[in-house]
Amino acid sequence: MCGIVGYIGQKDTQEVLIEGLKKLEYRGYDSAGIAVFTNQGLQISKAKGRIANLESKLEETPLVGSAGIGHTRWATHGKPSDVNSHPHTDNSHKFSVVHNGIVENYLELKDELIAEGRHFVSETDTEVISHLVAREYQGDIVKAVQKAISHMRGAFALGVLTEYEPEKLVAVRQASPLIIGIGEGENFIGSDIPAILQYTRNVYILNDGEMAVLTKDSVELMTIEGNFISREMIHVDWDAVTAEKGGFEHFMLKEIHEQPKAYRDTMRGRIDESGKKVVLPELKLTKEQIKGISKIQIIACGTAYHAGLVGRQAIESLVRIPVETDVASEYRYRSPIVTPDTLVIVVSQSGETADTLAALREAQSHGAHVLAITNVVGSSIARDADDVIATLAGPEIAVASTKAYTSQLIAFYLLSLYLAEVRGTQTQDEVARIIAAMQALPEQLENMLAKPDAIKAYAEQISKHEHLFFIGRGLDYAVVQEGSLKLKEISYIHSEAYAAGELKHGTLALIEEGIPVIALATQDAVLEKTVSNIKEVSARGADIMAITHEEHVVSLLKSVNQAFAIPKTLPLLTPALSVVPLQLLSYYASLARGNDVDKPRNLAKSVTVE
Ligand code: G6P
Repeated sequence: MCGIVGYIGQKDTQEVLIEGLKKLEYRGYDSAGIAVFTNQGLQISKAKGRIANLESKLEETPLVGSAGIGHTRWATHGKPSDVNSHPHTDNSHKFSVVHNGIVENYLELKDELIAEGRHFVSETDTEVISHLVAREYQGDIVKAVQKAISHMRGAFALGVLTEYEPEKLVAVRQASPLIIGIGEGENFIGSDIPAILQYTRNVYILNDGEMAVLTKDSVELMTIEGNFISREMIHVDWDAVTAEKGGFEHFMLKEIHEQPKAYRDTMRGRIDESGKKVVLPELKLTKEQIKGISKIQIIACGTAYHAGLVGRQAIESLVRIPVETDVASEYRYRSPIVTPDTLVIVVSQSGETADTLAALREAQSHGAHVLAITNVVGSSIARDADDVIATLAGPEIAVASTKAYTSQLIAFYLLSLYLAEVRGTQTQDEVARIIAAMQALPEQLENMLAKPDAIKAYAEQISKHEHLFFIGRGLDYAVVQEGSLKLKEISYIHSEAYAAGELKHGTLALIEEGIPVIALATQDAVLEKTVSNIKEVSARGADIMAITHEEHVVSLLKSVNQAFAIPKTLPLLTPALSVVPLQLLSYYASLARGNDVDKPRNLAKSVTVE
């Protein structure tokens, strides 16, 4: 998830681009670059790292001109480096492209372009686009872009310039966001409104399959097939800070709502076209190695550890390999039994957590193969691990992790299905059934997110309490541990997550009249047992909220005070839906208590000390 900005007009182009990129840094910040039409032609400047690095470069060699494009990168294809940074160009250096998204068939296209004699310098999928546009150019940049994208599959937003037509800036949106800013004698493009908000509040929002041709005095909108369209201009009246959150009050809420997209992005390209097989071309782990795995250890901290608890159950049930889970800070001090046929999976949103990194090194020192599930390509953990599965959740800004956790679940499901296929532990039909259910998750989640009112009302109710309990069995127990952590992190309400059957062995002593208990009851195989445990707390006067499936609401309401229904999926996949009401509950409870939701006290997003 990168950030794009573009400008054509009389202002200092370099400054407009840099200011725009700074507003988009939340979308990625491992490198940045700009291309500007100068009086020596199209000039590019780019630098690895934060935008400040690019600024220092530009201080020494400024790019002066009247049109340009800029990019801030969140690496997907190829590590963060100067050469992988955007803008990219073709061999003639007459075309320049910035890109957000993924060109799924880029390897195919790259081979084709190389066979035609074109040279590539980067590892990115984007460079394919600049070569394609150059190849298709016959005196009309708009037609060349249209032809180029007709060869491309995937999600992308583009900004394209050519030295042959310096009065034009071409923008394309195909499943990655892009907006057009309308000024007087100047026009803009941006991945998001904040990029241009300090210059204009008048925007067109492009839809998928649409493009725009900008000059300093005009904007033409058309479909990517070239049919002209008209669009109502929107006048934006939010302040810049709100805009960065895409209209949401907090990053956390925005990120909760980004989860359907994160699911789609994490699955994209990892399920083959038949829908019956998971493909993980990025894995170095060979089929022989997979067949030889005797044990798996999952190691992580905080929320990522909780994703590992679900991962354990997914792997054990689908692949039948024994799995241990450890919090990273404990792992190396328990003298873990690690052999070369142990697969160690480390999970980390940031890829920088010191405890997890230390555990990774400990496991490698015993000869284990370490696979990282991480959201940050190019992070320390991604670099040191033997294998990486990237979650494509996009940058997560709120300290309380939401979309990274659920994307980690998706990564675990994909990995489990892949391992099951290699080891022959599931039939093809069963794998296809699970894949079909996974593909339905984003839409199910969208439907659920559209109705937050019941959870919001309940959150306001619990925000007045200082203690509460979560209970659940099996996967529900794994999920309530994450729900409880989320609530503690941002609402500062003390909570305990208990295995529902364990409550009676001591903790029941703490249940008294009116204490809130949240019971997750989504696992049909243990539902009756969970209901018995619910009755135990109900008999002691607890105020119980059940989260379950629609079909159980009526019967559960005999034992609980209120019930909230979530959509039905396979039991194994339910955590990807059932955690969401718990995230919303924490969010609204924190809000009701007047806390700083995105930056809770004492915590940090990335903890780089042991
Ligand atoms: C910190 C964050 C948590 C996070 C944990 C692990 O404690 O506050 O939200 O779950 O680190 O982070 P990681 O980046 O390794 O997933």
